[in-house]
Amino acid sequence: MKDLSYLNKYLLKYKYYYTIGGVFILISTAFAIVPATLIRETFNLIENGYKEYSLGNTLAKKEILKDVLFYSSAIIVAAIIRGFFMYMMRQTIIVASRKIEYDLKNEIFYHYQTLPLKFYKKNNTGDLMNRISEDVSKVRMYLGPALMYGMNVTILMLMVIPFMFYINFNLAFYSLMPLPLLVVSIYLVQNIINKRSEQIQESLSNLSTYVQETFSGIRLIQSFVREINFEKVFAQKSKEYKNKSIGLQFVLALFFPVIMTLIGLSIIITVYVGALEVFDGNLSIGNIAEFLIYVYLLTWPVTALGWITSIIQRASASQKRINEFLKESSDITSSENKRIILQGKIEFKNVFFKYSDTKIQGMENISFTINPGDSLGIIGSTGSGKSTIANSILRLFDIDKGQILIDDTDIKQLNISHFRKQIGYVPQDVFLFSDTIENNILFGTENKSFDLVKEAAENADLLRNINSFPEKFETKIGERGITLSGGQKQRVSIARAIIKEPKILILDDCLSAVDTKTENVILENMKKIMVNKTSIIISHRISSVKLAKKIIVIDSGKIIEEGNHKTLLERKGVYFDLYKQQLESDK
Ligand SMILES: Nc1ncnc2c1ncn2[C@@H]1O[C@H](COP(=O)(O)OP(=O)(O)OP(=O)(O)O)[C@@H](O)[C@H]1O
Ligand SMILES: [Mg+2]
Repeated sequence: MKDLSYLNKYLLKYKYYYTIGGVFILISTAFAIVPATLIRETFNLIENGYKEYSLGNTLAKKEILKDVLFYSSAIIVAAIIRGFFMYMMRQTIIVASRKIEYDLKNEIFYHYQTLPLKFYKKNNTGDLMNRISEDVSKVRMYLGPALMYGMNVTILMLMVIPFMFYINFNLAFYSLMPLPLLVVSIYLVQNIINKRSEQIQESLSNLSTYVQETFSGIRLIQSFVREINFEKVFAQKSKEYKNKSIGLQFVLALFFPVIMTLIGLSIIITVYVGALEVFDGNLSIGNIAEFLIYVYLLTWPVTALGWITSIIQRASASQKRINEFLKESSDITSSENKRIILQGKIEFKNVFFKYSDTKIQGMENISFTINPGDSLGIIGSTGSGKSTIANSILRLFDIDKGQILIDDTDIKQLNISHFRKQIGYVPQDVFLFSDTIENNILFGTENKSFDLVKEAAENADLLRNINSFPEKFETKIGERGITLSGGQKQRVSIARAIIKEPKILILDDCLSAVDTKTENVILENMKKIMVNKTSIIISHRISSVKLAKKIIVIDSGKIIEEGNHKTLLERKGVYFDLYKQQLESDK
């Protein structure tokens, strides 16, 4: 229950829904009791009328039947009123629970987006999705049905049970005796059902993961002739699922007989003890009928008690998991939230950084300065730490030692999103959304005209490709859309960065999948774009970085050479060797 208290802020937010819902429950419960008293009156009327009738008063029959008809109509009216208020109670409380579900999902989703990359490395996607879908819906079961029926049951018991004791203590005591037994047995059975359902759910997701994997690897399976093996494993998993389902069915089948037996027991006791009381002159026959209705009225809520308890238990386990995620916070925060319009100066001062999980030294004593509007080329072998430098400028993580200054201000003092908005970043691993090309280019911008989209595509040398697609800029990419080639994807990603007209442009190996000719076209266009922008070009290829005003050569996180294309060649060091190698292979 402690975990569920997190939801109190939402209950408070929607307190009117719950209060009004409670009033509706109160009214509907009152109208559930009214028919019972009417039935008592009807029975008593019939009993007395029959006595008179058998004494010779023939008129009594007609009169009594008229009264019975009147009472029956009153019972129907009460039932309609009760039904109306039950409808209203659902309309308020269940609606409120849906609203909270919506709010909670948004809260979790929003929170996810603020968390650092570290968090995403620690938790797998399946877990993240479960928190926001399955766990939230379990919590909703508590906020909706469990609270609603909980209130309903409490109010009903508080109204009916004292009333029963007021009418006749003895009969009330005996007829209510089997009910606690009912609560306990339902609770136990419900727990078994929940446990088994969860196992079935797990078995099912196991099965579907397997099927999905099989079909995505179908080419491999067929070419290696492994169909029979896969069939065997599938049959085995499928059998597990079947056995578990049958196991659940066994418990479900037990559920109703147990309830029915206990209800039957209550009815027998009521009639028997009631008869004794009638003979003692303490009760009328009408009272027995009335009590039978009370017992019937109480069995469903009592059944619900077991069910409600198990919902609350599950919701609290889910909320606990949700709370764990909500408690996580990003350690990447801004100390002063400075919002500065960038000039574009970047300075690294003896920067050290070690990846905490792999213990790999990503940056070791890195120092360099790029003045506003200048360009820096970063070259080095794979795994040398080039992307690490780029990511540290975007502040995707914080460095261990040293300082990164942007326009002479420590990067940690800058408002993070305000700063990131002014950077155009082309990541090494291109990610495109399953949306149109236009929207993919426009991602991260506001109010950019279509002409600018076209211009960006032109500069990324993408326009001729787009024009060859039947739907041009409206072409869908990805899932059920067109699949772009590696080089085309990279160029969409470039267009996306340059349309932002950023002050700082970071291109991380973004020309690796294009041929030398396209590379030249893009680099030629880039010269125009890079005017007045600070740019960082990361690459394995000399051809990409040679235009940069300054070039650093990285190895194992350290700068091993620096200068411009000309001076580096003159040094006859690593850069020169690379140049020679690449010249050879281009021949
Ligand atoms: N998120 C990470 N967690 C742990 N270690 C990492 C992470 N990213 C990179 N590394 C390690 O840090 C080192 C530098 O990686 P980085 O991605 O900066 O190399 P790179 O120069 O960009 O290589 P490439 O040219 O292949 O892109 C590598 O040894 C890599 O294994
Ligand atoms: Mg890289």
